[in-house]
Amino acid sequence: MRRTGALAAEVLIAACGQVRAGMTTDAIDRFVHDAAVAAGAYPSPLGYRGYPKSVCTSVNEVICHGIPDSRRLAPGDIVNIDVTVYREGVHGDTSVTLMIGEVDEHSRRLVAETRVALHEGIGAVQAGAAVSDIGRAIQNHAWRHSLGVVREFIGHGVGTEFHSGLQVPHYYDRRHSTVLGEGMTFTIEPMLTLGSPEAAMWDDGWTAVTVDGRRTAQFEHTLACTADGAEILTRTPAGECAHDLFTEPVG
Ligand code: MF3
Ligand code: CO
Ligand code: CO
Repeated sequence: MRRTGALAAEVLIAACGQVRAGMTTDAIDRFVHDAAVAAGAYPSPLGYRGYPKSVCTSVNEVICHGIPDSRRLAPGDIVNIDVTVYREGVHGDTSVTLMIGEVDEHSRRLVAETRVALHEGIGAVQAGAAVSDIGRAIQNHAWRHSLGVVREFIGHGVGTEFHSGLQVPHYYDRRHSTVLGEGMTFTIEPMLTLGSPEAAMWDDGWTAVTVDGRRTAQFEHTLACTADGAEILTRTPAGECAHDLFTEPVG
């Protein structure tokens, strides 16, 4: 899981380094596909439940699972790039929201606070804590900043399966009383919104958008629960991740 997580981080960092205004999301897909294959990995999204591409690219009001296409990124856009790779029998899953060129003040705040919200969630992880502690920490942060928390899509157990049984909501629900144990591996991937968190689905069956059309951001890490905290698996051996390297607009 450490090695595959590091690879996911490396592919995501490399992909982010290519992104420019004017680039299509299909070009991001091609890059991620080729980078995964060159590293001896399989891009997990490709063919997963019929998903047609190797990465998810979710622009502006797209909450998650945006399908790469001929759309060109424009200055002012925000785009989440969600990379999952499969190698050595396990998956590593990580995403970042990038800002393209000059981005409005609300979007900057949304992106920055969604990144912090992920880390609030990570801070709630330790053996003996409940899964619901994670969502509580994220929701508290979001609500303090008047941001919405998407409920339809949640973090998940990850390992030999892309999505295992464990569910990790990003909102507080005391019924998620599962106790975390050392060595459990799962994602935290909050999607926060500037407006209402209510979601709708395009008729492609994948693209989830905000009903009010306002913007949404997401950050994701794959983690391992430890005795006294969490180990972030989707980092390079040097400890780098796209979240820390791309805090300023690109392209
Ligand atoms: N990587 C996404 C997640 O964080 C899942 C994408 S499923 C796909 O869980 F089929 F859309 F790729
Ligand atoms: Co995930
Ligand atoms: Co993901």
